[in-house]
Amino acid sequence: MSGNVRPETMQRITTKALADAFIAEQVKEIRAQVGDKKVLLALSGGVDSSVVAALLIKAIGKQLTCVHVNHGLMRKGESEDVVKVFGQELDANLIYIDATDRFLDLLAGVSDPERKRKIIGAEFIKVFDEEAAKLDGISFLAQGTIYPDILESIKAKESGKPVKSHHNVGGLPDDMAMELVEPVKLLYKDEVRVVGEALGLPHAMVYRQPFPGPGLGVRCLGAITRDRLNALREADAILREEFDKCGLAGKVWQYFIAIPDIKSVGVKNECRYEGWPAIIRAVNTRDAMTATIEEIPYAVLHKIVTRITSEVEGINRVLYDLTPKGPGTIEWE
Ligand code: XMP
Repeated sequence: MSGNVRPETMQRITTKALADAFIAEQVKEIRAQVGDKKVLLALSGGVDSSVVAALLIKAIGKQLTCVHVNHGLMRKGESEDVVKVFGQELDANLIYIDATDRFLDLLAGVSDPERKRKIIGAEFIKVFDEEAAKLDGISFLAQGTIYPDILESIKAKESGKPVKSHHNVGGLPDDMAMELVEPVKLLYKDEVRVVGEALGLPHAMVYRQPFPGPGLGVRCLGAITRDRLNALREADAILREEFDKCGLAGKVWQYFIAIPDIKSVGVKNECRYEGWPAIIRAVNTRDAMTATIEEIPYAVLHKIVTRITSEVEGINRVLYDLTPKGPGTIEWE
């Protein structure tokens, strides 16, 4: 896709027919741009990189190599889904790197949120770079840039203010001498989703709620430990499952669990039991600058509390954060 400005005449992609036409046009453009050369893509499992991967697989098949770095901070089942959908069902050239130990070792004892973000971002680039260096003859780098990213960087340049540090997490090094392939860079998020469904990607992948680059790393509050991270992953999976069942999943913009580094006293099997509290966050927003709290029906809350406290090792309380943004932020750190 050439040019960084969306033409005023460009129709909003709202239907399968419009998505199919966009896909056909992009397949032609990608083939013309890439020829018989090779393309590399960092596949996070997020909507944008997944749709770009599916488009490129359709256009150039095995000329694309996808690298999925599992930083050990993914939600339950997400890396497995990437392997299943892209490695098996779409038969992509997929390199799967389980870098969990590298990330968790580096993060051990680090409690400052910004330092945690920087460590995760820098290590992600390092791991990706190492993999890229092992590959021969890559000429192109594909990216899931979408139109709001372009608008945001134009705004940032105009105002002289850099984009917030958290938006750079997972960014790629400037010195990679590769040409970019950015087939969805003129699309808005809702259009990317329509294209993803038309490409046959699973609904859950295409409608995945926003997930920060540092993943569960900024929800396992303070210094991350493996046991608390595992408890967080399991509790978060229960919350997502219950939101799926009651229909809140399609309605709430972002919902997740955060676990602070504190323990309180509880009882289990008639014995004193010290455990962490799991904090539920469920917010609605248009642009993530402000956010309101979703009203979760009491019966659903009750089910979530019962399941988390009985099924997840180490958690003995569940709290529901009712603070809008502002004064709170969406994430806890
Ligand atoms: P806050 O907590 O600032 O979050 O109200 C606003 C939105 O940004 C997401 N977020 C991040 N996304 N890397 C990301 O890619 C980050 O470090 C990061 N921190 C927050 C957050 O999930 C919410 O959608």
